[in-house]
Amino acid sequence: MIGVIYWSGTGNTAAMAEAIGKGIADAGQEVVVKSVSEITADEAAAFDKLALGCADMGAEQLEEMEFEPFYTALEGKLSGKQVILFGSYGWGGTWLDDWAERVKAAGANIVADNLPVFGAPDDAAIADCEARGKALAEA
Ligand SMILES: Cc1cc2nc3c(=O)[nH]c(=O)nc-3n(C[C@H](O)[C@H](O)[C@H](O)COP(=O)(O)O)c2cc1C
Repeated sequence: MIGVIYWSGTGNTAAMAEAIGKGIADAGQEVVVKSVSEITADEAAAFDKLALGCADMGAEQLEEMEFEPFYTALEGKLSGKQVILFGSYGWGGTWLDDWAERVKAAGANIVADNLPVFGAPDDAAIADCEARGKALAEA
């Protein structure tokens, strides 16, 4: 079972999460797609493979009310896991790079390139999401 967990304010990152979930399912793996409000860090830590997504918020940061506390609680439990990172941004787009450094420092393996998408994912971005899901499923 693979977990896809995300925060999305206006639906763009949520659409990416659904497409990543489709890619995982198409690759023949079971998948759960959940908004961060629907899952605890302990529950998320039960997955060996995780696709984590958060829109670019604040000043090139994770959303701080809900997602940052969730991720901070999960961070100490990520060692040895297979992870991909994704999310939508509006004008910057560097937040995933900083986040990936944290994930690597926590001892997890980033198994496919980060996937930042400008605004709402178009058809090409949806295809990229599906491909990332497949890559995670096969990692
Ligand atoms: C309060 C707020 C802060 C934001 N900060 C950033 C930012 O620092 N860098 C950036 O590229 N986009 C920023 N954005 C734009 C969002 O990342 C962008 O609208 C994105 O598509 C939202 O994705 P979502 O639909 O999954 O919430 C911000 C948006 C809001 C509402």
